Amino acid sequence: MAKNRIVLGCQWGDEGKGKIVDLLAAEADIIARFQGGANAGHTIVVDDRKYKFHLLPSGILHEGKQCVIGNGVVLDPFGIKEELDVLVENGISYRDRLWISPAANLVLPYHKLIDAVQEHSRGTANLGTTKRGIGPAYVDKVARHGIRLVDLFAPERLKKRLEFQRTIKEQYFTGSDDERTDLDRTYRELLQLADLFRPLVIDVSRYINEAIDSGKTILYEGAQGSLLDVDLGTYPFATSSNTTVGGALTGLGIGPRAIDEVIGVVKAYTTRVGAGPFPTELVDDMGDRLRNQGDEFGTTTGRPRRCGWLDLVALRHVVRLNGVDAIAVTKLDVLDGLDELKVCHAYDLDGKIITDVPLDLARLNEVKPVYTSLPGWSEDTTGILSFADLPANARAYLEYIAADLKVEIKMVSTGAKRKEIIMV
Ligand code: GDP
Ligand code: IMO
Ligand code: MG
Repeated sequence: MAKNRIVLGCQWGDEGKGKIVDLLAAEADIIARFQGGANAGHTIVVDDRKYKFHLLPSGILHEGKQCVIGNGVVLDPFGIKEELDVLVENGISYRDRLWISPAANLVLPYHKLIDAVQEHSRGTANLGTTKRGIGPAYVDKVARHGIRLVDLFAPERLKKRLEFQRTIKEQYFTGSDDERTDLDRTYRELLQLADLFRPLVIDVSRYINEAIDSGKTILYEGAQGSLLDVDLGTYPFATSSNTTVGGALTGLGIGPRAIDEVIGVVKAYTTRVGAGPFPTELVDDMGDRLRNQGDEFGTTTGRPRRCGWLDLVALRHVVRLNGVDAIAVTKLDVLDGLDELKVCHAYDLDGKIITDVPLDLARLNEVKPVYTSLPGWSEDTTGILSFADLPANARAYLEYIAADLKVEIKMVSTGAKRKEIIMV
């Protein structure tokens, strides 16, 4: 019987979750996003067409599959409309197969303004956010003055809640001529969107639980990466949601038995976009080589991604946090042609060798990586479809990772395209 699976990023995001979700979606009935917002950028390449999704679940390209956005997501109503328009332009229908929780908090124009202003005030200590308003929207949610999707259907309540923003966000609104502080306009524009969302709103918790009871299969799609988790990641250099497995439970209203298998997506090396500790970062020619070869530029912001070797110490931590059962290794092809590959198996902290992350994760910026060197391969692995056809050293690299993390490798991605995959 097919399993209810969750796909999570195991590093700092951009591991290739979109591609893996798109592939696994073929075996699922429902694909559900549960946290994050339009800070996510998930790429799917089908033949020569590239799709980039920020809010829409990566199963949306499969006609007939149901897609769900849970209460844990912060929803940019204007952003999602743009994504839906692109779908329609491409002849893909979302009618009767996209469902959204009414309890999803909205990301509104003023959240993006506040995100930018706060980043500016942090100066050189900025977090390097995507400026998509994610942090300020989650702040409002937790402070209990957020605006939810359901408020679009109660205009009077919506008006009052918007007006209240002027009071509590005085420092951003008073005297500002930024059009994102124009609440009357936001109000009008939101009301115009109400009819778009009305038919999409359902009780997501009930929908998923009933689907499971009737034998349907769910695929839960994580956004960001586990090391960006607001509780368990490299705080404060994190995003504002729980990107780890628990986020799916609270973000959709499901119990732990609604997940049968945890699949971690691991890029064959490491990248990070934005600020924060990154022990194996390479600020040399090798870092540039990974960036160019891997086309490591942000899907959402276009920023160059920081690149470095694989970090097994950080990955062990992430496997434990999520109870990862199996991994999907992506972008193996990017390592083609290197004489030597390094993997970090321990850290040196104040002259002491440690094999786990420091108690204070902020100290990750003080550790020095301790590397094992593995031989590379000269062959082109792009598009290889079976594990046995990989060069011996590529297999050895993958087996080394699986043995260290004590997980099985379920998939190996050998190119950006949908077809370029090894199902192990
Ligand atoms: P996500 O946020 O985890 O979905 O990942 P992104 O889409 O932001 O970034 C991953 C990038 O790598 C995208 O441009 C993908 O098209 C690309 N990609 C995914 N898998 C592979 C692979 O195996 N090889 C190569 N060369 N590119 C890949
Ligand atoms: P996907 O789903 C990579 C990073 C930002 C910044 C930090 C906080 O495509 O893997 P935020 O805007 O969330 O307040 O920014 O988190 N970040 C991501 N990095 N991939 C993502 O999503 C990210 N979403 C947020 O760069 O460092
Ligand atoms: Mg991405």
